[in-house]
Amino acid sequence: MNTIHFTRGIPADESYPLEQLASCAEAVMRGPNALETMKYGTGFGFTPLREILAAQNNVKLENVIVGNGSLGFIDLMGVSVLQAGDTVFVESPTYDRVLTLFRRHGIKVVSIPLEPDGINLEALTKALESHKPKIVYLIADFQNPSGATMSLTKRQAVVELAAKHDFLILEDAPYRPLRYRGTQIASLFDLDPERVMQMSSYTKQISPGVRVGSLVGPARPLAQLAKAANDTYISAAFLGQATVAEFLQRGLLEPQLESLRNLYRPRLEAVIAALETHLPNARFIKPDGGFFLSVTLPEGSSVSSLMERGKDVNLTFTDGRGFFPVASDGERFLRLPFCALTPEELSEGIKRLSSIV
Ligand SMILES: Cc1ncc(COP(=O)(O)O)c(C=O)c1O
Repeated sequence: MNTIHFTRGIPADESYPLEQLASCAEAVMRGPNALETMKYGTGFGFTPLREILAAQNNVKLENVIVGNGSLGFIDLMGVSVLQAGDTVFVESPTYDRVLTLFRRHGIKVVSIPLEPDGINLEALTKALESHKPKIVYLIADFQNPSGATMSLTKRQAVVELAAKHDFLILEDAPYRPLRYRGTQIASLFDLDPERVMQMSSYTKQISPGVRVGSLVGPARPLAQLAKAANDTYISAAFLGQATVAEFLQRGLLEPQLESLRNLYRPRLEAVIAALETHLPNARFIKPDGGFFLSVTLPEGSSVSSLMERGKDVNLTFTDGRGFFPVASDGERFLRLPFCALTPEELSEGIKRLSSIV
Protein backbone atom coordinates (compact mmCIF):
# COMPACT_ATOMS: atom_id res chain seq x y z
CA MET A 1 0.00 0.00 0.00
CA ASN A 2 1.51 3.33 -1.11
CA THR A 3 1.86 6.03 1.51
CA ILE A 4 -0.37 9.03 0.79
CA HIS A 5 1.08 12.28 2.10
CA PHE A 6 -1.32 14.98 3.26
CA THR A 7 1.58 17.06 4.44
CA ARG A 8 3.19 19.68 2.24
CA GLY A 9 1.49 22.18 -0.03
CA ILE A 10 3.67 21.67 -3.06
CA PRO A 11 2.91 21.82 -6.79
CA ALA A 12 2.25 18.56 -8.63
CA ASP A 13 5.38 17.15 -10.31
CA GLU A 14 3.57 17.10 -13.65
CA SER A 15 2.87 20.87 -13.41
CA TYR A 16 6.47 22.06 -13.80
CA PRO A 17 7.09 23.78 -17.18
CA LEU A 18 10.65 22.42 -17.38
CA GLU A 19 11.17 22.72 -21.15
CA GLN A 20 9.95 26.30 -21.18
CA LEU A 21 12.10 27.21 -18.19
CA ALA A 22 15.16 25.66 -19.86
CA SER A 23 14.52 27.69 -22.98
CA CYS A 24 13.94 30.92 -21.01
CA ALA A 25 17.06 30.43 -18.87
CA GLU A 26 19.16 29.77 -21.97
CA ALA A 27 17.76 32.86 -23.71
CA VAL A 28 18.67 34.94 -20.65
CA MET A 29 22.25 33.73 -20.58
CA ARG A 30 22.72 34.21 -24.32
CA GLY A 31 20.80 37.48 -24.51
CA PRO A 32 21.59 41.17 -23.99
CA ASN A 33 20.85 41.04 -20.23
CA ALA A 34 23.26 38.19 -19.46
CA LEU A 35 25.88 40.42 -17.85
CA GLU A 36 23.32 42.36 -15.77
CA THR A 37 21.88 39.03 -14.64
CA MET A 38 25.25 37.82 -13.40
CA LYS A 39 26.26 41.03 -11.61
CA TYR A 40 25.30 42.34 -8.20
CA GLY A 41 22.29 44.66 -8.32
CA THR A 42 20.19 46.55 -5.78
CA GLY A 43 18.15 45.12 -2.91
CA PHE A 44 15.01 45.86 -4.94
CA GLY A 45 15.69 43.00 -7.35
CA PHE A 46 16.12 42.54 -11.09
CA THR A 47 14.91 45.73 -12.79
CA PRO A 48 13.32 44.25 -15.96
CA LEU A 49 11.10 41.99 -13.83
CA ARG A 50 10.17 44.92 -11.58
CA GLU A 51 9.25 46.92 -14.69
CA ILE A 52 6.88 44.20 -15.85
CA LEU A 53 5.24 43.99 -12.41
CA ALA A 54 4.99 47.79 -12.14
CA ALA A 55 3.17 47.92 -15.49
CA GLN A 56 0.88 45.01 -14.53
CA ASN A 57 -0.08 46.69 -11.26
CA ASN A 58 -0.17 50.22 -12.63
CA VAL A 59 2.38 51.49 -10.08
CA LYS A 60 5.84 53.08 -10.18
CA LEU A 61 9.08 51.13 -10.05
CA GLU A 62 9.63 52.24 -6.42
CA ASN A 63 6.43 50.34 -5.52
CA VAL A 64 7.81 46.94 -6.54
CA ILE A 65 10.43 44.73 -4.92
CA VAL A 66 11.34 41.20 -6.00
CA GLY A 67 13.23 38.78 -3.81
CA ASN A 68 14.32 35.20 -3.21
CA GLY A 69 10.80 33.82 -2.81
CA SER A 70 8.18 35.72 -0.86
CA LEU A 71 8.62 34.24 2.61
CA GLY A 72 11.99 35.96 2.89
CA PHE A 73 10.22 39.33 2.88
CA ILE A 74 8.62 38.44 6.21
CA ASP A 75 12.05 37.76 7.68
CA LEU A 76 13.39 41.04 6.28
CA MET A 77 10.38 42.90 7.67
CA GLY A 78 11.42 41.76 11.12
CA VAL A 79 14.62 43.81 10.81
CA SER A 80 13.24 46.81 8.90
CA VAL A 81 9.55 47.75 8.84
CA LEU A 82 9.04 46.09 12.23
CA GLN A 83 11.06 46.28 15.43
CA ALA A 84 11.15 43.83 18.33
CA GLY A 85 8.16 44.50 20.56
CA ASP A 86 5.92 45.69 17.70
CA THR A 87 2.53 44.05 17.31
CA VAL A 88 1.25 42.18 14.27
CA PHE A 89 -2.27 40.72 13.91
CA VAL A 90 -2.72 37.41 12.10
CA GLU A 91 -5.66 35.17 11.31
CA SER A 92 -6.03 32.04 13.42
CA PRO A 93 -5.19 29.68 11.79
CA THR A 94 -2.50 31.14 9.56
CA TYR A 95 0.58 30.07 7.57
CA ASP A 96 2.82 28.42 10.17
CA ARG A 97 6.18 29.68 8.86
CA VAL A 98 5.04 33.27 9.14
CA LEU A 99 4.37 32.74 12.85
CA THR A 100 7.88 31.32 13.23
CA LEU A 101 9.43 34.30 11.47
CA PHE A 102 7.56 37.02 13.31
CA ARG A 103 8.40 35.34 16.60
CA ARG A 104 12.06 34.98 15.62
CA HIS A 105 12.26 38.76 15.59
CA GLY A 106 10.45 39.32 18.89
CA ILE A 107 7.28 40.58 17.21
CA LYS A 108 4.15 40.25 19.36
CA VAL A 109 1.59 38.16 17.46
CA VAL A 110 -2.10 38.69 18.23
CA SER A 111 -4.46 36.16 16.69
CA ILE A 112 -7.90 36.96 15.33
CA PRO A 113 -10.23 34.02 14.62
CA LEU A 114 -10.86 33.16 10.99
CA GLU A 115 -14.34 32.34 9.67
CA PRO A 116 -15.27 30.65 6.36
CA ASP A 117 -15.64 34.15 4.79
CA GLY A 118 -12.49 35.61 6.29
CA ILE A 119 -11.30 37.26 9.48
CA ASN A 120 -13.85 37.75 12.29
CA LEU A 121 -14.54 41.48 12.10
CA GLU A 122 -15.98 41.78 15.59
CA ALA A 123 -12.91 40.20 17.11
CA LEU A 124 -10.66 42.39 14.95
CA THR A 125 -12.47 45.57 15.99
CA LYS A 126 -12.33 44.55 19.63
CA ALA A 127 -8.62 43.72 19.48
CA LEU A 128 -7.96 47.16 18.00
CA GLU A 129 -9.33 48.70 21.21
CA SER A 130 -6.47 47.25 23.24
CA HIS A 131 -3.61 46.80 20.72
CA LYS A 132 -1.95 48.98 18.11
CA PRO A 133 -0.73 46.70 15.31
CA LYS A 134 1.81 47.98 12.81
CA ILE A 135 0.80 45.28 10.34
CA VAL A 136 -2.22 43.04 9.88
CA TYR A 137 -1.16 39.92 7.94
CA LEU A 138 -3.97 38.37 5.86
CA ILE A 139 -4.24 35.63 3.24
CA ALA A 140 -7.48 36.75 1.63
CA ASP A 141 -7.67 34.26 -1.27
CA PHE A 142 -7.80 30.48 -0.69
CA GLN A 143 -6.05 30.77 2.64
CA ASN A 144 -3.21 28.54 3.76
CA PRO A 145 -4.10 26.44 5.74
CA SER A 146 -7.91 26.72 5.82
CA GLY A 147 -8.90 27.26 2.16
CA ALA A 148 -11.16 30.19 3.18
CA THR A 149 -11.64 33.28 0.99
CA MET A 150 -12.44 36.69 2.48
CA SER A 151 -15.69 38.26 1.30
CA LEU A 152 -15.68 41.65 -0.44
CA THR A 153 -17.62 43.20 2.45
CA LYS A 154 -14.96 42.09 4.91
CA ARG A 155 -12.16 43.30 2.65
CA GLN A 156 -13.76 46.73 2.49
CA ALA A 157 -14.24 46.80 6.26
CA VAL A 158 -10.63 45.79 6.97
CA VAL A 159 -9.31 48.48 4.63
CA GLU A 160 -11.46 51.08 6.40
CA LEU A 161 -10.15 49.91 9.78
CA ALA A 162 -6.58 50.22 8.46
CA ALA A 163 -7.18 53.88 7.62
CA LYS A 164 -8.93 54.56 10.92
CA HIS A 165 -6.31 52.85 13.11
CA ASP A 166 -3.32 53.61 10.92
CA PHE A 167 -1.90 50.16 10.24
CA LEU A 168 -0.48 48.53 7.13
CA ILE A 169 -2.05 45.42 5.65
CA LEU A 170 0.25 42.68 4.40
CA GLU A 171 -1.85 40.76 1.87
CA ASP A 172 -0.16 37.43 1.11
CA ALA A 173 -1.60 36.34 -2.24
CA PRO A 174 0.38 33.42 -3.71
CA TYR A 175 -2.80 31.46 -4.55
CA ARG A 176 -4.84 34.35 -5.97
CA PRO A 177 -4.46 33.38 -9.68
CA LEU A 178 -5.44 29.79 -8.89
CA ARG A 179 -9.22 30.11 -8.73
CA TYR A 180 -11.05 26.96 -9.89
CA ARG A 181 -14.62 28.21 -9.57
CA GLY A 182 -16.61 31.39 -8.92
CA THR A 183 -15.49 34.89 -9.79
CA GLN A 184 -12.48 36.84 -8.61
CA ILE A 185 -12.98 39.31 -5.73
CA ALA A 186 -11.18 42.69 -5.63
CA SER A 187 -7.91 42.26 -3.75
CA LEU A 188 -7.11 44.26 -0.61
CA PHE A 189 -4.42 45.97 -2.67
CA ASP A 190 -7.01 46.94 -5.31
CA LEU A 191 -9.07 48.53 -2.53
CA ASP A 192 -6.26 50.57 -0.96
CA PRO A 193 -2.86 50.62 -2.68
CA GLU A 194 -1.64 53.25 -0.16
CA ARG A 195 -1.97 50.94 2.84
CA VAL A 196 -1.71 47.44 1.43
CA MET A 197 1.49 45.59 0.60
CA GLN A 198 0.55 42.71 -1.69
CA MET A 199 2.98 39.82 -1.58
CA SER A 200 2.97 37.21 -4.30
CA SER A 201 5.17 34.43 -5.54
CA TYR A 202 5.94 32.37 -8.61
CA THR A 203 6.36 29.29 -6.40
CA LYS A 204 2.83 28.01 -7.01
CA GLN A 205 2.52 29.51 -10.51
CA ILE A 206 5.79 28.34 -12.08
CA SER A 207 7.97 26.51 -9.53
CA PRO A 208 9.44 26.97 -6.06
CA GLY A 209 12.94 26.44 -7.48
CA VAL A 210 12.97 29.70 -9.42
CA ARG A 211 12.80 31.24 -5.91
CA VAL A 212 11.06 34.42 -7.01
CA GLY A 213 8.58 36.38 -4.93
CA SER A 214 7.33 39.94 -5.19
CA LEU A 215 5.89 42.68 -3.05
CA VAL A 216 3.92 45.59 -4.47
CA GLY A 217 3.01 48.44 -2.15
CA PRO A 218 3.76 51.84 -0.65
CA ALA A 219 7.27 53.16 -1.39
CA ARG A 220 8.44 53.75 2.20
CA PRO A 221 8.20 50.23 3.67
CA LEU A 222 9.51 48.83 0.37
CA ALA A 223 12.60 51.05 0.55
CA GLN A 224 13.17 49.80 4.12
CA LEU A 225 12.87 46.21 2.91
CA ALA A 226 15.24 46.81 -0.01
CA LYS A 227 17.85 48.22 2.38
CA ALA A 228 17.45 45.21 4.68
CA ALA A 229 17.79 42.90 1.64
CA ASN A 230 20.91 44.74 0.52
CA ASP A 231 22.41 44.54 4.03
CA THR A 232 21.62 40.81 4.19
CA TYR A 233 22.48 39.34 0.78
CA ILE A 234 23.43 42.42 -1.34
CA SER A 235 21.12 41.40 -4.16
CA ALA A 236 18.88 38.41 -4.84
CA ALA A 237 19.55 35.48 -7.22
CA PHE A 238 18.94 37.20 -10.55
CA LEU A 239 19.04 34.13 -12.80
CA GLY A 240 15.67 33.00 -11.44
CA GLN A 241 14.25 36.52 -11.67
CA ALA A 242 15.51 37.02 -15.23
CA THR A 243 14.14 33.60 -16.24
CA VAL A 244 10.75 34.53 -14.83
CA ALA A 245 10.89 37.89 -16.67
CA GLU A 246 11.58 36.04 -19.92
CA PHE A 247 8.73 33.60 -19.15
CA LEU A 248 6.36 36.54 -18.68
CA GLN A 249 7.59 38.39 -21.77
CA ARG A 250 6.96 35.33 -23.90
CA GLY A 251 3.34 35.26 -22.68
CA LEU A 252 3.82 31.84 -21.07
CA LEU A 253 2.31 32.61 -17.67
CA GLU A 254 -1.37 32.78 -18.58
CA PRO A 255 -1.36 29.41 -20.43
CA GLN A 256 0.62 27.92 -17.53
CA LEU A 257 -2.00 29.19 -15.04
CA GLU A 258 -4.79 27.84 -17.22
CA SER A 259 -3.18 24.41 -17.32
CA LEU A 260 -2.68 24.50 -13.52
CA ARG A 261 -6.36 25.35 -13.01
CA ASN A 262 -7.34 22.48 -15.30
CA LEU A 263 -5.03 20.10 -13.45
CA TYR A 264 -6.08 21.14 -9.93
CA ARG A 265 -9.83 21.76 -10.36
CA PRO A 266 -10.69 18.01 -10.61
CA ARG A 267 -8.46 17.38 -7.59
CA LEU A 268 -10.43 19.89 -5.52
CA GLU A 269 -13.67 18.29 -6.73
CA ALA A 270 -12.32 14.81 -5.88
CA VAL A 271 -11.34 15.68 -2.33
CA ILE A 272 -14.71 17.36 -1.66
CA ALA A 273 -16.62 14.39 -3.12
CA ALA A 274 -14.54 11.94 -1.09
CA LEU A 275 -15.16 13.85 2.14
CA GLU A 276 -18.87 13.99 1.45
CA THR A 277 -18.95 10.24 0.79
CA HIS A 278 -16.58 8.91 3.43
CA LEU A 279 -16.76 11.51 6.20
CA PRO A 280 -20.29 12.89 5.91
CA ASN A 281 -20.17 14.36 9.42
CA ALA A 282 -16.89 16.26 8.92
CA ARG A 283 -17.04 20.05 9.10
CA PHE A 284 -14.95 21.62 6.35
CA ILE A 285 -14.59 24.80 4.31
CA LYS A 286 -15.13 24.32 0.56
CA PRO A 287 -12.37 26.31 -1.11
CA ASP A 288 -12.79 27.98 -4.51
CA GLY A 289 -9.12 27.68 -5.39
CA GLY A 290 -5.60 27.34 -4.01
CA PHE A 291 -3.88 24.32 -2.52
CA PHE A 292 -5.67 23.53 0.73
CA LEU A 293 -8.87 22.31 2.25
CA SER A 294 -9.21 21.97 6.01
CA VAL A 295 -11.36 19.78 8.20
CA THR A 296 -12.38 20.27 11.81
CA LEU A 297 -12.43 16.82 13.37
CA PRO A 298 -15.29 15.73 15.63
CA GLU A 299 -15.11 16.52 19.39
CA GLY A 300 -12.87 14.12 21.19
CA SER A 301 -10.51 13.45 18.27
CA SER A 302 -7.13 15.04 17.72
CA VAL A 303 -4.72 15.35 14.82
CA SER A 304 -1.83 14.11 16.96
CA SER A 305 -3.61 10.79 17.55
CA LEU A 306 -4.55 10.66 13.83
CA MET A 307 -0.88 11.13 12.98
CA GLU A 308 -0.10 8.06 15.10
CA ARG A 309 -2.91 5.95 13.67
CA GLY A 310 -2.08 7.17 10.16
CA LYS A 311 1.04 4.98 10.29
CA ASP A 312 -1.18 1.86 10.30
CA VAL A 313 -2.90 2.87 7.05
CA ASN A 314 0.06 4.63 5.38
CA LEU A 315 -1.18 8.20 5.67
CA THR A 316 0.81 11.23 6.83
CA PHE A 317 -0.54 14.56 8.12
CA THR A 318 0.74 17.86 9.43
CA ASP A 319 0.13 18.70 13.08
CA GLY A 320 -2.68 21.27 12.96
CA ARG A 321 -1.46 23.02 16.11
CA GLY A 322 1.40 24.66 14.22
CA PHE A 323 -1.02 26.88 12.29
CA PHE A 324 -2.52 28.42 15.43
CA PRO A 325 -0.87 31.21 17.41
CA VAL A 326 -2.41 29.52 20.47
CA ALA A 327 -1.39 25.94 19.66
CA SER A 328 -4.16 24.19 21.61
CA ASP A 329 -6.76 25.82 19.31
CA GLY A 330 -5.51 23.52 16.53
CA GLU A 331 -5.97 20.13 18.25
CA ARG A 332 -8.77 19.14 15.87
CA PHE A 333 -7.58 21.01 12.78
CA LEU A 334 -6.58 18.90 9.81
CA ARG A 335 -5.08 20.56 6.70
CA LEU A 336 -5.46 18.61 3.48
CA PRO A 337 -3.25 19.84 0.62
CA PHE A 338 -4.84 18.42 -2.53
CA CYS A 339 -2.81 19.64 -5.53
CA ALA A 340 0.06 17.16 -5.53
CA LEU A 341 -2.24 14.09 -5.27
CA THR A 342 -4.24 12.57 -8.12
CA PRO A 343 -8.05 12.30 -7.81
CA GLU A 344 -7.60 8.53 -7.22
CA GLU A 345 -5.05 9.12 -4.44
CA LEU A 346 -7.31 11.75 -2.86
CA SER A 347 -10.27 9.41 -2.89
CA GLU A 348 -8.24 6.53 -1.46
CA GLY A 349 -6.60 8.85 1.11
CA ILE A 350 -9.94 10.12 2.41
CA LYS A 351 -11.27 6.57 2.55
CA ARG A 352 -8.29 5.58 4.72
CA LEU A 353 -8.75 8.73 6.78
CA SER A 354 -12.36 7.82 7.50
CA SER A 355 -11.23 4.41 8.73
CA ILE A 356 -9.08 6.00 11.48
CA VAL A 357 -11.14 9.08 12.46
C1 LIG B 1 0.61 31.88 2.29
C2 LIG B 1 2.00 31.59 1.82
N1 LIG B 1 2.90 32.57 1.76
C3 LIG B 1 4.15 32.34 1.33
C4 LIG B 1 4.58 31.09 0.96
C5 LIG B 1 6.00 30.87 0.56
O1 LIG B 1 6.22 31.27 -0.71
P1 LIG B 1 7.68 31.39 -1.34
O2 LIG B 1 8.03 30.04 -1.87
O3 LIG B 1 7.53 32.42 -2.39
O4 LIG B 1 8.63 31.85 -0.27
C6 LIG B 1 3.66 30.03 1.00
C7 LIG B 1 4.09 28.67 0.61
O5 LIG B 1 3.48 27.69 0.90
C8 LIG B 1 2.34 30.29 1.45
O6 LIG B 1 1.42 29.32 1.55
